[in-house]
Amino acid sequence: MGDAAERWRERQTGRGIPDRVLRHAPADPWTHDPADFTPPAEPADTPSHRVARAIAERAAAWTCAGASVLDVGCGGGDAAFGAAWPEPSPVARVVGVDRQTDMLAVFTAAARARDLPHGTVHGTWPEAAADAGRHDVVVCHHVLHNVVDLPPFLAALTDAVRTRGGIGGVVVEMLTEHPLAWLDPLWARFHDVVRPPSATHDDAVAVLREQQGVDPEVLTWTRAARLPHDAAWVTRRLCLTADRVEEVAAALVDLPPRRTDAVTLTWSP
Ligand SMILES: C[S@@+](CC[C@H](N)C(=O)[O-])C[C@H]1O[C@@H](n2cnc3c(N)ncnc32)[C@H](O)[C@@H]1O
Repeated sequence: MGDAAERWRERQTGRGIPDRVLRHAPADPWTHDPADFTPPAEPADTPSHRVARAIAERAAAWTCAGASVLDVGCGGGDAAFGAAWPEPSPVARVVGVDRQTDMLAVFTAAARARDLPHGTVHGTWPEAAADAGRHDVVVCHHVLHNVVDLPPFLAALTDAVRTRGGIGGVVVEMLTEHPLAWLDPLWARFHDVVRPPSATHDDAVAVLREQQGVDPEVLTWTRAARLPHDAAWVTRRLCLTADRVEEVAAALVDLPPRRTDAVTLTWSP
């Protein structure tokens, strides 16, 4: 394993929850609630959506048959539906991959509501790649910070691109640091757990360079906060029981505001 991949692995591993804490967690602190990922009827106008849409438009023009979009770690499909919007859409089909079936149900309902041909693959990337096929656009938003072994994950994203006319590409969106890094002071305060620095988008780019010799286009921007982060939500993330909510609410007041720097990484095979 190269230096960049090892650095990513170390930083991600360092964000694990110690057994002594996890053992007493009243609820699973990791699983995402699908209700938080229902895509808006009108997608936000973001650099990631614009870049994916532009690739889809070029692919549709090349094939005269519409583009296909693969959404890895799709949640409710915000990334895929963002590429397909507005009408008239260059996207003829979307496929969502997720390890949570309840997320795929949200993705399917959203595709049906948009009357968009769709498919789903239930599984964990990169193992699920064999069932996902190749697509003109491969989007993957807010998943990298869930991954420890990044090289095979990124390689499978690249391999999933269909390069008709040299057009296809990958669009990754991520925050500049781990999405829960803003809670690090509360891990120290409530559990005496000192977190190492978060893996960053620069670390991910370094892995891409090291493993694939790829230099992605990097766009940095500010996004609106999406996930709820009220005291009850934070209490569950911190593996604390519900009777600690008021204590957590008081501690949240002292935290600096959550960062919303986002990054769009784009590359072609
Ligand atoms: C933070 S959510 C982002 C959802 C969506 N991409 C978005 O931006 O709204 C991360 C999603 O990725 C899924 N996920 C995380 N790691 C995964 C993996 N290795 N393979 C498949 N799905 C994964 C989770 O189940 C979850 O639905």
